[in-house]
Amino acid sequence: MIRVATIAELQTILDGERQQGRSIGLVPTMGALHEGHASLVRCSVKDNDVTVVSIFLNPTQFNDQTDLAKYPRTLEADCALLEQCGATIAFAPSVDEIYPEPDTRQFSYPPTDTVMEGAFRPGHFNGVCQIVSKLFFMTMPDRAYFGEKDFQQIAVIRRMVEDLGFPLEIVPCPVVREEGGLAMSSRNTLLTAEERQTASQIYQTLCKSKELMGEKSVASLHDWVVETINAVSGLKVQYYSIVDGKSLADVQDWNESDDIVGCITVFCGSQPIRLIDHIRYKG
Ligand code: PAF
Repeated sequence: MIRVATIAELQTILDGERQQGRSIGLVPTMGALHEGHASLVRCSVKDNDVTVVSIFLNPTQFNDQTDLAKYPRTLEADCALLEQCGATIAFAPSVDEIYPEPDTRQFSYPPTDTVMEGAFRPGHFNGVCQIVSKLFFMTMPDRAYFGEKDFQQIAVIRRMVEDLGFPLEIVPCPVVREEGGLAMSSRNTLLTAEERQTASQIYQTLCKSKELMGEKSVASLHDWVVETINAVSGLKVQYYSIVDGKSLADVQDWNESDDIVGCITVFCGSQPIRLIDHIRYKG
C-alpha cells in the first residue's frame, strides 16, 4: 500500500492507473477505522483494480468544535488495517492541502439535508458535500463506497452526485454491528464497556419495534420506541423519525410508501456520546 499526503502525488498515480484501463474505487473516511470501514474497503478491493482510502477528519462538517476535538485520531493503526484489507493507496492529506482557501460553496438538497441530522447539526451536510465533492474531483473514481449506518448521508450524497453529474456509482454497504447489535462507529471507542452494553439496547429496541409494527400505527410505534429507549438509564433520544427511505419525508401511515425507515439519534453516557442508527420497516 502506498501512503500519500498531496493531491498532486495522488493524481499522478491515478492518471497512470487510468491510462492502463484500471478501475478505481474510493472509500472516504475520517480515520479511526474499525470493522465497518474494513468491510467497505474489502468491497472496493473486490470490485476495482485500485482502491483509494481517504483519511481526512473534515473540519467543515463539524458544527460542534468539541465533537471535532474529541474525535479519535489513529493514523498508524488505520494504515495497518488498510494494508491488511488490500487497499492500494491511503490518502491522508492535511487540512491546508484540502482547504488552501475557505470553502464557500453551498449545497442544498431539501428535504434530504434539512431533516433529522440536517436539523440538529446545521451545516453538517454542507460540509459533507464540500469534502466528498472535492474527493470525487481529485480521484474521479468509478465507484465510491459508503456505510449504510449513515443512512441520511447516502441520500444527500446521491442527490449531490445527480446534481453535479459525477460519472460514478455510489455503492452502499450494510451496517456492521458489535455483538450486542450496536452499530460500529468510530465514536464507540469513547464509550465505557458498560455504556457500550447500554447502547446495544438502541438496536434491540428498533428490532423489537419491527415486530410490533403490525399492531401499532406509525405515531404509536414512534412513541413506543422513544419511551422504551428513554426508560433505559444512560440513554436519551434526540429524535426518532419514521420516514420514506428515498425522500426522507415523514410518513404518517404504513401504506404511504413501500420503503419506510426509522432513523434515530440517541445520547449515551455521561459525556454524552451521540449515536445514530436506523431500521428498515419496509423495502
Ligand atoms: O462518513 C464519514 O465518515 C464522513 O462523513 C465522510 C463521508 C468520510 C466525509 O468526511
